[in-house]
Amino acid sequence: MLIIGIAGGTGSGKSTVARSVIHRLGSDKVTFISQDNYYKDHSYLSMSEREAINYDHPFAFDNELLIQHLLLLKEGQPAHAPVYDFTVHARSTVESVELKPNHIIILEGLHVLSDEKLREQLDIKVFVDTDPDVRILRRVLRDIEERGRTIQSIHQQYLATVKPMHEAFIEPSKKYADLIIPEGGENEVGIQLLAVLTEKYLTGDRTWGEA
Ligand code: ADP
Ligand code: C5P
Ligand code: MG
Repeated sequence: MLIIGIAGGTGSGKSTVARSVIHRLGSDKVTFISQDNYYKDHSYLSMSEREAINYDHPFAFDNELLIQHLLLLKEGQPAHAPVYDFTVHARSTVESVELKPNHIIILEGLHVLSDEKLREQLDIKVFVDTDPDVRILRRVLRDIEERGRTIQSIHQQYLATVKPMHEAFIEPSKKYADLIIPEGGENEVGIQLLAVLTEKYLTGDRTWGEA
């Protein structure tokens, strides 16, 4: 089993890169895990209390559960990932996703390279590197269209937590990457490189990891 971790700032294109690689390889050969689904559950708090949480600090994620699931997959056992609903800042009470052991696991999320224990689980470490002005523009459109946010809340949250946490934790984690993909979603060469490397693994060629 090969585990690929894709990190990068919000709006960098992590999810898009992961989807493109999976599309090229064939979804039957890859199990996809989003770190977003491992946001800690805050359904016991009121809506205004949930809105005030720092969702960009590494502690916002239940990485222990995520690592437990990666270890299960490595042992050849399935795991049941929670499903996160951004519109209510809570885990779904009814849904979960079955993660199947597979040849390739792609894990994408803000903090997959900043957490040392998580990093140790990864065979290929990728950082999607996109300028902050482009990321915030993408985020504005996406969060209004898909995540139920207003422009005022995006503005306030970006300055209060998103930007400072990015500078403190996410940007410094770039140094751990094996491969840096600038611009994300439409970097055909970067995506192709990752897909070709992964295909080599699927065909039984494991030489790149040897000294
Ligand atoms: P992340 O998961 O890193 O936050 P996404 O992959 O969700 O980023 O991308 C954020 C938004 O930007 C999405 O709406 C996506 O469709 C768009 N996007 C991603 N990559 C590109 C790109 N290279 N050019 C234009 N839009 C992009
Ligand atoms: O896909 P992306 O990496 O952008 O998802 C992580 C982002 O989701 C974080 O920057 C965080 O601010 C945001 N988030 C949010 N509301 C939540 C949980 C996460 O805005 N309830
Ligand atoms: Mg994403």
